[in-house]
Amino acid sequence: MILSLTGIRKSYTTTEGTIEILKGIDLDVAAGESVALTGESGSGKSTLLHLAGGLDHADGGSVMMGGQDLASFDDGARARYRRTQVGLVFQQFNLIPSLNVAANISFHAKLADRHDPAWEAALTEELGLSAYLARYPEQLSGGQQQRVAIGRTLAARPPLILADEPTGNLDEATGDTVLDLMLSLARNAGSALLLVTHSSRLADRLDRKVVLRSGRIVG
Ligand SMILES: Nc1ncnc2c1ncn2[C@@H]1O[C@H](COP(=O)(O)OP(=O)(O)OP(=O)(O)O)[C@@H](O)[C@H]1O
Ligand SMILES: [Mg+2]
Repeated sequence: MILSLTGIRKSYTTTEGTIEILKGIDLDVAAGESVALTGESGSGKSTLLHLAGGLDHADGGSVMMGGQDLASFDDGARARYRRTQVGLVFQQFNLIPSLNVAANISFHAKLADRHDPAWEAALTEELGLSAYLARYPEQLSGGQQQRVAIGRTLAARPPLILADEPTGNLDEATGDTVLDLMLSLARNAGSALLLVTHSSRLADRLDRKVVLRSGRIVG
């Protein structure tokens, strides 16, 4: 297993009191496998992705990555994990505004010590970004920025990609094309994929689909 979540619990406390969002999540993702995570708005999908990515701490349960317990990591190890083992694609692309497309694409690969110009050239070609390498994020459309964000993650060949509605703000046809590309490129990179989507049509294209409901994984 590349990712093993066991008994994951997470509550949030607000002025209205404490709400338990995740009530014991068990979920395994095998190396190279693609899993769709669906569920109603507010069911806790993004929360779960943040925990799997080491961006937040669970209240209970364990996150195992490649057989190692994330809770046993100190800050340095956690930062290394985020740099080398996991790639995040969120709806807000978080591109670096001061870097052009080419530099954005190679940024994480360099941090992960996996900079590979030939792979990056193939990725930019496949993602239809070759003509935009010298441009800056603000000079791109939303769909183009999304493709840069996907390329940047794939360039680093992380064993696990966590993607939160990566095609959420694209029209249906563009979203389908980008998702297909992401699936085939993740396969080429050997990356497993845990992908949040509201679309059961898109979810059906992945190896497996799970649903988050009332704080638990069903189906
Ligand atoms: N930092 C926070 N403090 C308090 N409550 C939070 C916090 N973050 C999220 N929540 C609440 O936790 C629940 C789950 O949020 P989350 O963002 O994980 O849902 P989601 O399944 O990703 O929803 P969506 O499909 O709309 O993106 C929501 O009810 C939300 O209001
Ligand atoms: Mg969300």
